[in-house]
Amino acid sequence: MTKPLRIALAGLGTVGGGVIRLLDENGALIARRAGRPIEIVAVSARDRSKDRGVDISRFAWVDDTTALAGLDVDVVVELVGGSDGPALTLARTTLAAGKGFVTANKAMIAHHGLELSRAAEASGAALKFEAAVAGGVPVIKGLREGAAANAIDRVYGILNGTCNFILSKMEAEGRDFADVLAEAQALGYAEADPTFDIDGVDAAHKLAILASIAFGTQPAFGDVAASGIRHVLATDIAEAEALGYRIRLLGLADHGAGGLFQRVHPHLVAVSHPLAHVTGATNAVVAEGNYVGRLLFQGAGAGDGPTASAVVADLIDIARGEFGPAFAMPADALAAEAPADPGERRGRAYVRFAVADKVGVLAEIAAAMRDAGVSIESLIQRGSSGDDGVGGSVFVVIVTHEGPERAVAQALERLRGSQSLTGQPLWMHILG
Ligand SMILES: NC(=O)c1ccc[n+]([C@@H]2O[C@H](COP(=O)([O-])OP(=O)(O)OC[C@H]3O[C@@H](n4cnc5c(N)ncnc54)[C@H](OP(=O)(O)O)[C@@H]3O)[C@@H](O)[C@H]2O)c1
Repeated sequence: MTKPLRIALAGLGTVGGGVIRLLDENGALIARRAGRPIEIVAVSARDRSKDRGVDISRFAWVDDTTALAGLDVDVVVELVGGSDGPALTLARTTLAAGKGFVTANKAMIAHHGLELSRAAEASGAALKFEAAVAGGVPVIKGLREGAAANAIDRVYGILNGTCNFILSKMEAEGRDFADVLAEAQALGYAEADPTFDIDGVDAAHKLAILASIAFGTQPAFGDVAASGIRHVLATDIAEAEALGYRIRLLGLADHGAGGLFQRVHPHLVAVSHPLAHVTGATNAVVAEGNYVGRLLFQGAGAGDGPTASAVVADLIDIARGEFGPAFAMPADALAAEAPADPGERRGRAYVRFAVADKVGVLAEIAAAMRDAGVSIESLIQRGSSGDDGVGGSVFVVIVTHEGPERAVAQALERLRGSQSLTGQPLWMHILG
């Protein structure tokens, strides 16, 4: 057998530990598949004395994580995290040294992917990040390779397992967001600081990477419009269900009016759509290609095993000598596309208002909609249960006919500051 692929591993947490265990258990099979063994030779993390649950005494320990690139290794695997800091320093030094770089770090790739792909091309090194999007689900490989012959019309999906866990639990048990979040934190499905997950930032990182690969555009995280699920109430889940929908946090990208459109928001998804049936911490991505049709990628979006599976798949590609440009085409070929104007988009909307229980409120909302040119398909009014954070209010839910999003935005602008509203309206798009 030819000489091993020598690895330096930065980060020995959930994913780093998973990579060591996977290579221990499946090493012989992987060596046959890759044509050579994959061997970890050095590791680094913050705390040398921490019990990792795996034996790391067989690897060289390096105190300074950013020094791994200087070792006699073929590939550095970065499983530290963070868009900048040691992860970025390590990426730059590794690629400048002409060594392969594998990461699960979506934040860093979303922010610095273009620079890093240029650096990889300049030195002829591999840059791979399958685990950065949808964990164990091989969606980057699917788009870069399997669907490479297609023009992709649209890519969208459930990109954050924490949010999907919370929404599907709210749905199954009729509970409110804060309550389910606390349980998700206790179970380890949500971080102590859940902001990146529940406010849509994590999904936005992943969407920016997916959109770049799907559309041949430069990764543009700053152009992703993102909001999360913290304002979704149990009443929204119930109303959506009554209308034939489930609520899912979706990342969605397509070519919109005058540019690339990227958004992460809670959406209403018809129960007949496969994404409505994705529950728990699962991720699922739909890509629509002009020759292949609709593809659905689904599986575990996080966790030590699934994420390690994606990391090691990248290592196997490198061991085989099979890697191409990181974003499926050379960095200079990626288009710098302007963001599309969301106001030009057409669609149906769900808008929920919490309003004071008094005469004239419905007329005020209906007038704002009419004056902005929004056509109302249905209007439902219900009393609040009192334990949903907007006690004493009445809910008004409007579903619109298809129309320009600009009109809904204008209607909400007209209602801004109205004494009739007791809280911020929640506007959700209905997946068309
Ligand atoms: N967890 C998942 O399911 C998952 C899924 C997909 C992608 N990812 C991505 O994978 C990466 C790793 O995630 P994780 O969940 O494995 O994180 P984690 O459990 O928090 O582990 C992070 C590791 O990095 C080390 N580290 C942290 N800061 C460091 C620093 N300044 N210098 C050197 N080492 C440092 C830690 O050292 P100590 O152990 O000594 O403290 C720890 O070993 C992140 O980019 C994450 O977004 C994770």
